[in-house]
Amino acid sequence: MKNEVNLQRRKMLKLAGVSAAALATFPGLLNAKMMKVGSHASPDFHPDVEISLQGKVKDVSIFQGPETRVWKVTGKVLKGDKSVISNDGESYLAPTIRLHKGQKVRIYLKNDLPSATILHWHGLHVPSKMDGNPMYAIDNGETFVYEFEILNRAGTYWYHAHTHSLTARHVYSGLAGFFIVSDDEEQALKLPSGEFDVPLVIQDRNFDRQNQLKYGGGMMMKMHGFLGDQILVNGTPEFELPVATRAYRMRLLNGSNSRIYKLAWDDGTPIKVIATDGGLLEKAETLPYLTLAPAERREIWVDFSNKNVGTELTLRSLEFSSGGMGGMGGGRGGMMGGMGGGQSHAGKDFTVLKVRVSKKVSSHNVLPKRLSKITPLRLSDAVNPESPRRITLSMRHMSALLNGRSYKMNDIREDEIIPVNTLQLMEFDNGFHRGMGGMGGMGMPHPMHLHGEQFQVVKREVRNKSGKGYTSIAEGFLDKGWKDTVLVMPGEKVTILKPFNDFTGLFMYHCHNLEHEDMGMMRDLLVK
Ligand code: C2O
Ligand code: CU
Ligand code: CU
Repeated sequence: MKNEVNLQRRKMLKLAGVSAAALATFPGLLNAKMMKVGSHASPDFHPDVEISLQGKVKDVSIFQGPETRVWKVTGKVLKGDKSVISNDGESYLAPTIRLHKGQKVRIYLKNDLPSATILHWHGLHVPSKMDGNPMYAIDNGETFVYEFEILNRAGTYWYHAHTHSLTARHVYSGLAGFFIVSDDEEQALKLPSGEFDVPLVIQDRNFDRQNQLKYGGGMMMKMHGFLGDQILVNGTPEFELPVATRAYRMRLLNGSNSRIYKLAWDDGTPIKVIATDGGLLEKAETLPYLTLAPAERREIWVDFSNKNVGTELTLRSLEFSSGGMGGMGGGRGGMMGGMGGGQSHAGKDFTVLKVRVSKKVSSHNVLPKRLSKITPLRLSDAVNPESPRRITLSMRHMSALLNGRSYKMNDIREDEIIPVNTLQLMEFDNGFHRGMGGMGGMGMPHPMHLHGEQFQVVKREVRNKSGKGYTSIAEGFLDKGWKDTVLVMPGEKVTILKPFNDFTGLFMYHCHNLEHEDMGMMRDLLVK
């Protein structure tokens, strides 16, 4: 028994009259119900906002013809401003939740789905027990009560299912939505708001002739991750956004299971990024294109004020090579339809969305020179400035591993224990020390995500920079600001500084290629 959870478990079991010996015989006994986590609203918590979310099977209209059966989260505001929940309409997406920093929220999640599930607040700094760890999954008919305060700065966060070995399937079926946080500093900037502040989630899916979602494939699909041949934006195929001749704030989220996008405007306009996973940058950054890995967010500033009414602009995903198992991807050509090349993560150039300038207005929005102040984390404040915690990423024997291990509940190892209130230097090593080149071997790109507080990227190092897989997307990386997910390419090592403040307990780290995650490329850290 080497961790706090086990200790808690022993206490619980003692109360329940179960001996430690029995526990050793039945290690599966630990679950949310025994720990009573999330089972009721606590009388000492005084929420500003109360929401109920319900997951249920629903038929929604995505295409002409038959409706599509999805797993839909619907929402209701029980206390507070009704605008906390929006976009609860006809799409398969979970509703958008909007809260302000400092607000306390209570969320009832009622599971009326034919599977155990749990929701995780991606990017939010919340107590371990409110974080949607798979061990807290609730069965059909049960309710989980979340209570937490919004500690994050303003930013585009999101939430999604996080069920053990079923996350990919659950998210694919619809269990994901935006979680947008505002704060005073951001509001003082008077950025485009209301209809001029547009959250856009990009996803890929496959549908059969009856318009039903198709998910599946064998081990090869899992190794590559799922790639769909139908792009949906905000749950809509062939998404078109009518805009006015003025500036917009667009919040892009890659909500796909595993597809990486290389986003660019078709007229060559560079992309102006104002925010990343964890909120505003210090100042806007201009990139020729955006590389957006699963779970990553970028907010962009797009100004249509000098465009003529009638102008059409297309946001495309450009062709790139992701390296790695590309040579093996040829057989997937059929499944990928017209969109895919032979490469697993590369696609032929395809349309993501269209923007049509449809009305003339006079706008006053000017992009502020300075957006925010980002205090850089300092190496000298890390407890281990000389010896980063290394996390090696590998795919071997048809499994996806972190430091050679795959996910297991309640399986904390020595190197996965982190003292609370420390700053840790960590590195994700995707074949860097093994000397794997960009295109060589079994290398796959891995979008690595850590729960809890946002981190900062210190550096990227890559073997074989000339490897095509790397250079074809590297100009689209944006490592500034606060991040919770970072793409680690084959042959690459990414070093980060990650704070573990305030909360003890389990916080996950995993690949956000959801097929990889479900194959076991996920572990818990125990902060104590
Ligand atoms: Cu968005 Cu643990 O994940
Ligand atoms: Cu997360
Ligand atoms: Cu991965």
